[in-house]
Amino acid sequence: MAKQDNKLDRSMIFAAANVAEKAAIAAYDWIGRGDKEAADQAAVDAMRTALNALPMRGRIVIGEGERDEAPMLYIGEEVGTGEGPEIDIALDPLEGTTPTANGMTNSLAVLAMAPRGGLLFAPDTYMDKIGVGPDLPAGVVDLDRSIEDNLTALARAKGRPVCDLTVCVLLRPRHEEVVERIRTVGARIFFITDGDVAGVISTTDPMTGIDMYIGSGGAPEGVLAAAALRCVGGQMQGRLVFRNDDERARAERTGIKDFNRKYELHDLAGGKDIVFTATGVTSGTLVDGVRKSGNVAQTHTLLLSTMEDAWRRMRGRFTI
Ligand code: FBP
Repeated sequence: MAKQDNKLDRSMIFAAANVAEKAAIAAYDWIGRGDKEAADQAAVDAMRTALNALPMRGRIVIGEGERDEAPMLYIGEEVGTGEGPEIDIALDPLEGTTPTANGMTNSLAVLAMAPRGGLLFAPDTYMDKIGVGPDLPAGVVDLDRSIEDNLTALARAKGRPVCDLTVCVLLRPRHEEVVERIRTVGARIFFITDGDVAGVISTTDPMTGIDMYIGSGGAPEGVLAAAALRCVGGQMQGRLVFRNDDERARAERTGIKDFNRKYELHDLAGGKDIVFTATGVTSGTLVDGVRKSGNVAQTHTLLLSTMEDAWRRMRGRFTI
């Protein structure tokens, strides 16, 4: 076989969007039905079918879990037609299973792609994350600094008082102290009940009014958010959080040796060419949810790439 150049060409931007669109449409039927497993399964099936039609030798690096716990789209699974460039794929067919099942906001079908080696092989554990948008001095925030110091530095860099900053935080009991400290310095909090991929990305869009993301959420979601920030600018750091030996063993299986490492944006998503796409299942800060009428489904997709200097939001209309 002729040597294949492992590059992402521009056609992959729209091909990736189509994969996310298909997953979001499949999940739509489960919105508000109280069954998050069925919603997830529908999105997984649709995403896998769409991925397997793409001309690539794809490998899942962030997926539904390890092979023994995920029958499909597990970490290490090969997808695509088996011909074409070697592509690594990070995905979450349904980012926000609970909001989908409860008919609430902010659930997405998400996918990122990069040539082999361009995305971190991250274990399915938690990750402490901090993120800010573009056009700020390098290192303006840091996971190893206090929240108070980070907010003061960010306010100075933005030329605004701390009380004018808004921090996005996942509403979880584990964030009680974070919340108290943000409130003590007088910044606002924008709570999200789920979906920290959107939470981190929202710092990069001035229209959301969100200046910083902080807190712990899924490590896979951390890699997905980092892929998006690589495309639009912004800064992010992450550090894995282990609750037990089983989680440490998972990390070891993905090749992680330094359990305390602070990952910079390029460690999480280092590929030169990256594509990130997210289609709304239910409406949220980034995109609208799927709308369906009769046999027509309408989608709204955020489409980002390091190969283009643009934010693209795209509406799709599908006869189903
Ligand atoms: P799921 O779609 O897998 O339910 O994840 C949603 C989510 O809110 C992520 O965005 C976030 O990273 C993670 O869950 C947080 O985990 P937890 O709900 O355990 O706090």
